[in-house]
Amino acid sequence: MSLRLSNNKQTPDIINGSESNKCIIMSETITTDKDSFLAHRRKQEELHWRRKGNVSGILDSILTVEVNTTELCNRSCVFCPRHNPEVFPNRNLHMTVKGANTIAEHLGEAQYNGKISFSGFGENLLNPNFVEIVREFRFYLPTATLECNTNGDRLTKDYITKLFKAGLDLLYVNLYDGAEQAEHFDKLFAETRTNQYRYRVHWATADHGLILNNRSGVIDWIGVEEGDVKALQGKPCHYPFYKMFVDWNGDVLFCSNDWGREHVVGNLLQSSVMDVWFSKPMNKIRRKLIKGDRTMSPCNKCSVDGSLFGKPSFDLIKEAL
Ligand SMILES: C[S@@+](CC[C@H](N)C(=O)[O-])C[C@H]1O[C@@H](n2cnc3c(N)ncnc32)[C@H](O)[C@@H]1O
Ligand code: SF4
Repeated sequence: MSLRLSNNKQTPDIINGSESNKCIIMSETITTDKDSFLAHRRKQEELHWRRKGNVSGILDSILTVEVNTTELCNRSCVFCPRHNPEVFPNRNLHMTVKGANTIAEHLGEAQYNGKISFSGFGENLLNPNFVEIVREFRFYLPTATLECNTNGDRLTKDYITKLFKAGLDLLYVNLYDGAEQAEHFDKLFAETRTNQYRYRVHWATADHGLILNNRSGVIDWIGVEEGDVKALQGKPCHYPFYKMFVDWNGDVLFCSNDWGREHVVGNLLQSSVMDVWFSKPMNKIRRKLIKGDRTMSPCNKCSVDGSLFGKPSFDLIKEAL
């Protein structure tokens, strides 16, 4: 079995992070893979600020726009809210191409050139128009990095080819079942002659190779203790300062961990990026989080530390508020 990692020509610093990963995955040191994934994310953040130089606009605070294009998933992983359909049911609802066009246009008007992460609450490859959606984002955001997190189940040679033709930069394939999946995907990617992919291994450790979190209290079955959540009280959280989350219908949630959709702070079908990112409800929550006040819901139920990334964005917005 050979496990390769991507060599993405449009985001050269990502490549550098992948070489060490290559050895780690080949020796199947799963825990280290989680660490190297964090290192990779750190590198991406450093690159973001290097690209901006000394002159930063306030919207440069956004490192990632996470996009959820579907309310469907074909799996029900035990560590995900989807494991319990009463908590997070499958719904046949999708972002439309027209919706993606407007959202991408608004991001383009804001000259956004950070990362678009197609991930969110479902399996994006199940959106029947996903290729077209990627094309819309690429059209309006020619220099942004477009990534997709997937369980890989729907990938075929044809689908992969179309996704990269539409402008996708990178596929993160999450391997949940076992090593045989990597062999399968190795063949598939070799056939499509692409190296724009990475694997994340989740099958072998109790923590599933993830920094598991309870998705702002939506999951109560993964062993997060009340004390762990309480211990975070008083600690600022950076998420709403560096990551924007756009739902399938254009709604922007205050935090990508808000799986209960408790705070919709705007909608990118109707408003500009600036208006949404600095909307009144968004800033109200930020003022609390700056002080480490996590008493409002859902932060009072959330197990996320929130300080691993995003400190420069946090500082930039804190100064402006
Ligand atoms: C929710 S999935 C959606 C994308 C796609 N369906 C997939 O599986 O890659 C996005 C990412 O969240 C991770 N994830 C799921 N539940 C999690 C949890 N409780 N804590 C941390 N990460 C989680 C998944 O492994 C995946 O990398
Ligand atoms: S505490 Fe949790 S829910 Fe609140 S902003 Fe941070 S990550 Fe999001």
